[in-house]
Amino acid sequence: MSNFVSVANENGVAVVTIDNPPVNALSFNVRKPLYEALIALRDDPAAKAIVIACAGRTFVAGADITEFGKPVEQPELRAIIALLETIAKPTIAAIHGTALGGGLELALGCHFRNADRGARLGLPEVKLGLLPGGGGTVRLPRLVGAKKALDMIVSGTPISAGEAEAVGLVDAVFDDDLLAQTVRFASEMADRSEPLVPVRDRNGRLAETDLAFFDAQAAGLAKKARGLDAPLACAEAVRNAITLPFDEALAAERQLFVKLVSGDQSRAQRHLFFAEREAAKVPGKDLQKRRIARVGIIGAGTMGGGIAMAFANGGLPVTLLETSAEALQRGLATIEKNYAVSVGRGSLSEEAKQQRLDLFSGSTDYADLGDCDLIIEAVFEDMAVKKEVFGRLDAVAKPGAILATNTSYLDVNAIAASTARPQDVLGMHFFSPANVMKLLEIVRAEKTAPDALATVADLARRIGKVAVIVGVCHGFVGNRMLAARGAENEFLLLEGATPGQVDKAFTDFGWPMGPFQMGDLAGLDIGWRNRKALGQTAAIADTLCEQGRFGQKTGRGWYRYGGGSREPIGDPDVEALIRAKAAEQGITPRAIGAEEIVERTLYPLVNEGAKILEEGIAARASDIDVVWVNGYGFPVGKGGPMFWAGLEGAAEIVERLEHWRAKTGRAIFEPAPVLRRFAQTGTWEVAGGAQ
Ligand code: 3HC
Ligand code: NAI
Repeated sequence: MSNFVSVANENGVAVVTIDNPPVNALSFNVRKPLYEALIALRDDPAAKAIVIACAGRTFVAGADITEFGKPVEQPELRAIIALLETIAKPTIAAIHGTALGGGLELALGCHFRNADRGARLGLPEVKLGLLPGGGGTVRLPRLVGAKKALDMIVSGTPISAGEAEAVGLVDAVFDDDLLAQTVRFASEMADRSEPLVPVRDRNGRLAETDLAFFDAQAAGLAKKARGLDAPLACAEAVRNAITLPFDEALAAERQLFVKLVSGDQSRAQRHLFFAEREAAKVPGKDLQKRRIARVGIIGAGTMGGGIAMAFANGGLPVTLLETSAEALQRGLATIEKNYAVSVGRGSLSEEAKQQRLDLFSGSTDYADLGDCDLIIEAVFEDMAVKKEVFGRLDAVAKPGAILATNTSYLDVNAIAASTARPQDVLGMHFFSPANVMKLLEIVRAEKTAPDALATVADLARRIGKVAVIVGVCHGFVGNRMLAARGAENEFLLLEGATPGQVDKAFTDFGWPMGPFQMGDLAGLDIGWRNRKALGQTAAIADTLCEQGRFGQKTGRGWYRYGGGSREPIGDPDVEALIRAKAAEQGITPRAIGAEEIVERTLYPLVNEGAKILEEGIAARASDIDVVWVNGYGFPVGKGGPMFWAGLEGAAEIVERLEHWRAKTGRAIFEPAPVLRRFAQTGTWEVAGGAQ
């Protein structure tokens, strides 16, 4: 007996309960007493069957991720599972909450698995840059078949108890009283005299595998993996399960695991796992959260509509406010159309669509926002309009309601000052499309109350967003750094690169697309309008816009798009335009390599991140990583720009920035003091201390 594992005997059935809050991870503290308890029960004639269950909110959610990268303390999970398979009395996992990773692998070591109706089961290791290392790749295919196992292991997405039962992963699902029902089940199994076959010896389903079909599926993964090793290792391991004897496949899985766990990609993905959980934490103990039962949204345009959908998808009722009945109708019609597309695609049922639409009410009268607990403004990006809206909100919103702006660039302090309750005002910067993109920058203004921030961070999580708390500056963390990343784009073209070469350097790095393709997707007219408002110019991009080349929506931008396709085709007209502009400026084109493109785009990105830390706009370097991975497609296997700076070598980055500073004279390359210090200490220093 220990604090982490206890054993009780229920009418001859031993119930082993793991109790390691919050998620019952298989830390050494659990493994040791669990192993000892199983040895004792194996040899105890008073126990005719063994149930493994968990206390608290979930079954085992996996290995303890904090132990990776440290020396392994025995017994390992694999030893516990191997021990389970030698036990000659029925062993049953009673699964509630989530059985994930090592948790599901533990359950696969049992003869039977029972689950609560609400449970979810999966092997999410791939999301940490790993593969299941406790036999999951070898045992799961024996129960569910190789194809389903490949799906589950490569996607990392858990399945419901119902589906698990349908595919053969779970033996029984109960609507209530899981433990009592499982004890009864265990007793019945013990009283039957049928032979008990461990999962390792169930080879029937594997023999059915069509290897050619399996290989074709696995081959499709390489492209999707975008440079990530883990999905490919997962497929290799599942293939081994089909072609190799059990023990050999198990040993091969181990080798792959050991290689991945010590690699940079997994380190990067584990860093992001903890970074995401850290980023939304508001300092201050036990902050009381405000109750949010209804959300108001002002403006039913691109962002307002998407934000409204994000809340309705999370089950919250929404009041949508527009300037006219027509604009409101237009906004609601777009929302309905978007849901209809999901129904058409099969990702949403007609019934669920209706349930979500029922959560919307529309209005053109500010008084109707009086019962909202949170009101988010998503009107035109114009300070005068925003101030007017907040002034009107101040008059109608109930006391304690949180008032948020979705502004991309404007000063949230100035917006807050247009109300008599700046403590209730903050920024909620969603990304487009807001019903899809996970990132939410929560902007803390000078006077924002901590409990308002904590409430919004909590709510963001409830609707499936990854929230990062940031400070006020032009463009906050994401868009400000994006500007730094793009500052050299036109120079690179003028000096000899093509949009295609720049974009390829990005996709080779692991980004889903490069900056020019991104520009075409978002619409080049947006930047053009912004530049005009700020009195700025961009020789090539401005000319493209003057020619009506706004990107994909006009069929032409930095690239050409044939017949409504999204596939970019290099355009000789654009290249001729670039050369003409270069000639006007007396620039002779030269060959520009991928390395230079990275140095002149991603090193300034890191450098701007360092300035953001210095100014206290981000509280941690890892917060910046969370923004970039979730909002802008920075490759997860590199952990975000600030983590990647460590992999790339900060001294090298400083040296190359200095080189480009000297060569171009441009301030964007001036290394930030915090970056210089990082190069010396390996620690990112933030305003108020080091981390
Ligand atoms: N190890 C260590 N800590 C863990 C952990 C794990 N496996 N899973 C969660 N935690 C910690 C979190 O960091 C968080 O800590 P904090 O409160 O200090 O920030 C706390 O537990 C609660 O986690 P969440 O905030 O994520 O809680 P939720 O209720 O939202 O989600 C969950 C619960 C779905 C279980 C989610 O935590 C999760 O997905 N965990 C990771 C599951 C996973 O990846 N398992 C596989 C691990 S690798 C493995 O098993 C290898 C094996 O094959 C050998
Ligand atoms: P949009 O032009 O699509 O929508 C704005 C909507 O607000 C229009 O429907 C308009 O009728 C309505 N509106 C204007 N004044 C109003 C008022 N006084 N009361 C009620 N409704 C009013 O604009 P979009 O793209 O949705 O942008 C909205 C805000 O979101 C801006 O601040 C923008 O900077 C920000 N944002 C935009 C992103 C994008 O990718 N489009 C991303 C993140 C933030």
